[in-house]
Amino acid sequence: MKWLIKGGRVVDPASGTDSPLDVVLEKGKIVSVGKDLVAPADSKTIDASGLAVIPGLIDMHCHLREPGFEYKETVSSGCAAAVKGGITSVMCMANTYPVNDSAAVTSYILDRAREAGTARVYPVGCVTQGMKGESLSEMGELAEAGCIAVSDDGRPVSSGEIMRRAIEYASTYGLLVIDHAEDLAIAGDGVMHEGPISTRLGLEGIPVSAAYAEAARNISLLKEFGGRIHIAHVSSESVVELIRRAKEDGLGVTAEACPHHFTLTHDAVLGYNTDAKVKPPLRTARDVEAVIEGLVDGTIDAIATDHAPHHRDEKNVEFDLAAFGISGFETALSLTLGLVDSGRLSLLEAIRKWTTAPAAIARIPGGSLEEEGPADLALVDLEREWKVDPDQFVSKGKNTPFAGMTLKGEVVATFVGGRKVYERGKSNHQ
Ligand code: DOR
Repeated sequence: MKWLIKGGRVVDPASGTDSPLDVVLEKGKIVSVGKDLVAPADSKTIDASGLAVIPGLIDMHCHLREPGFEYKETVSSGCAAAVKGGITSVMCMANTYPVNDSAAVTSYILDRAREAGTARVYPVGCVTQGMKGESLSEMGELAEAGCIAVSDDGRPVSSGEIMRRAIEYASTYGLLVIDHAEDLAIAGDGVMHEGPISTRLGLEGIPVSAAYAEAARNISLLKEFGGRIHIAHVSSESVVELIRRAKEDGLGVTAEACPHHFTLTHDAVLGYNTDAKVKPPLRTARDVEAVIEGLVDGTIDAIATDHAPHHRDEKNVEFDLAAFGISGFETALSLTLGLVDSGRLSLLEAIRKWTTAPAAIARIPGGSLEEEGPADLALVDLEREWKVDPDQFVSKGKNTPFAGMTLKGEVVATFVGGRKVYERGKSNHQ
């Protein structure tokens, strides 16, 4: 199928473009971007006036739950939710059942993704076998099967010695190490940020130092031994500052932040709202501001969802027992546009955090509207306001602390490899 997307506001951080242009897609690629382009023979034309045309978002951090937890999400339902959110590539974490520490699991995920035929899926394999933190996974096998990164996300790599070896070993296969920075001894049985709200609610807190201690240890490994790591879901002022200094020192560290961490504080937990229970936890207004400052000054390179769908039954329980996680695909872009509306990021910068930045960090294609690149893009109505209704989520995970809120910016259509994989108003339940 050939497409002429006419008269949209083309926003492409790769070329610094932000102007009204036409885009032609053919054979799965972007063939031209320019003014007054002529529709190729047998093409369909889309009037994109009033819409932004952006590269498809690349989400470096999500949980698709398959194999093993299909009642929470499947590769198919997750990918359908992703493209509804304008996300065309996802990196899915390894804490499935069985965990992704083998070529068999990686291939299984890739097969499901091919069948689903919507978003591109890039599996993340385990750092350690069985995600037990004891011995390194077979990274060569994982890379060969299609993993592009390794992480024990959901859990840290508690042994510094194993992390040291993991950084070294992963680099020989070109795999990115994604660090879930959490010192479990410090985090203990905490269920939310440790502070006045946890005290008031009588809930056990997770101190900021749980994230700081582990991130600092990993950065000190980089300083002594070299290599690179990507720090996932940065949520606190102290970790932002740590990464800022590490970057000043020229260390191989990159970082991501999630929309919930730059939008909500621990106040969201008041009323024992289990949909606001997430790891790392929602923190103070000062931490939120620091995360935003980190995004603004480049300390935090990318934005990622940490889409963590859970079944209602795992959230409709007392706070201590509820699962950690937020279903994030379908609110991520709108929440990011909130930073544009408040004047903190330009639209180009905001889209860069979702496109060229993750593409460069994870070394995957896409993330730009450059000619000859994959025709992965989204058409977005930047002005459209909508109310978050979890029952309307395509994801099986209805667990969102944003329910009932009015957000601005809605995806109208999403293309992957030149195929329209999502159109607003048309059912794309898988
Ligand atoms: O809240 C979270 N949920 N944080 C994680 O690190 C893991 C995730 C999950 O897998 O549910």
